Amino acid sequence: QSSMSYERYTAELTNCIIAFLSPILPTEEEYRIKEATRRQLERLAAKVSPGAKLLAFGSMANGFALRNSDMDLCCLINRSGDQEVHPSASELVEMLSKVIREETDFNVLALPKARIPIIKISRGSTSELPYEISCDIGFENRLALENTRLLLSYAMVDPPRLRTLVLFLKVWTKRRKLNSPYTGTLSSYGYTLLVLFYLTHVKRPAVLPNLQRIPPTRPLAPEEVELNGHNIYFYDDMATLRKDWQSQNTENVAELLIDFFRYFAKEHPYSREVISLKTETGMFGKDAIMWNAELCIEDPFQHGYNVSRTVTKDGLYTIRGEFIRATRILQNRNQRVSAQLAELCE
Ligand code: CTP
Ligand code: MG
Repeated sequence: QSSMSYERYTAELTNCIIAFLSPILPTEEEYRIKEATRRQLERLAAKVSPGAKLLAFGSMANGFALRNSDMDLCCLINRSGDQEVHPSASELVEMLSKVIREETDFNVLALPKARIPIIKISRGSTSELPYEISCDIGFENRLALENTRLLLSYAMVDPPRLRTLVLFLKVWTKRRKLNSPYTGTLSSYGYTLLVLFYLTHVKRPAVLPNLQRIPPTRPLAPEEVELNGHNIYFYDDMATLRKDWQSQNTENVAELLIDFFRYFAKEHPYSREVISLKTETGMFGKDAIMWNAELCIEDPFQHGYNVSRTVTKDGLYTIRGEFIRATRILQNRNQRVSAQLAELCE
């Protein structure tokens, strides 16, 4: 096929992807209701521990939310007061879940003994509030707030392409049942890191710069560089970056998506390499430290922590099989693009 017809095909597929996503993005109203819920819960948290804050992280805060996505909240305790002893995370789970039960109509599940103690709350939709709420509240998870800020910053570098790719992959992984860390596949966070890796380190010319390797343009406070022993620095002066950094890559969303599927279907050296955004090349050999999982994606801030440790051998086999299936479907040009998308996500 001539390159012109490929260009026309990918332009059409790009428009179709954008049209496909538009009705499943959160509405302004959904954001308002979720923000009101956050504030309501924050008031209850402050009753339990004066000055406590409840901050959104994950998709509600990083620019990659779909309609009805879960709310991830992180409770930060005010430690500046004169109290000597602070309650532990398990104690906070017990206390806050009790107050939420007493003062709201949420269903509350407290998990004080979990490795990471959390409260899960939910509420079905009603005629007055036609939104289901499903929310996890954790405590002092400051690294998650920082990695949310990193994803948000990337979302701001190249909003249309990165955001569209991540959102489409989220829908696709959910419809194809590839987004369940509890049953052997990968979290949304993991897939988002795969897209960032691909756009920063695989694609040439790169679509994104490596924010963790751009030197700061101002002196940094110690707390901007280190958190609990982890290096959390990344370049976050987005106003300057948008002036100084222009990607030479002009591919559209569909071209990038097709090549993303092809790369992870056929080319990625799963058995040899660990994906690590912060490194120069985006990867290092699995033998460097004890990396022996099927799929290895190092957290951008937590050195040695495998975000994809949930992915089993079967899980990776399924995921790769789906990358291959996606590649095949998008190669079949006898179908209309809308039919391709429908088949892809069925
Ligand atoms: N997170 C993390 N480490 C993981 C998984 C998740 O730090 N191994 C944190 C990240 O801050 C991430 C947040 O938890 O942004 C939410 O993760 P996840 O639910 O996978 O991503 P969302 O973007 O919220 O996706 P969804 O809309 O599907 O909930
Ligand atoms: Mg989430």
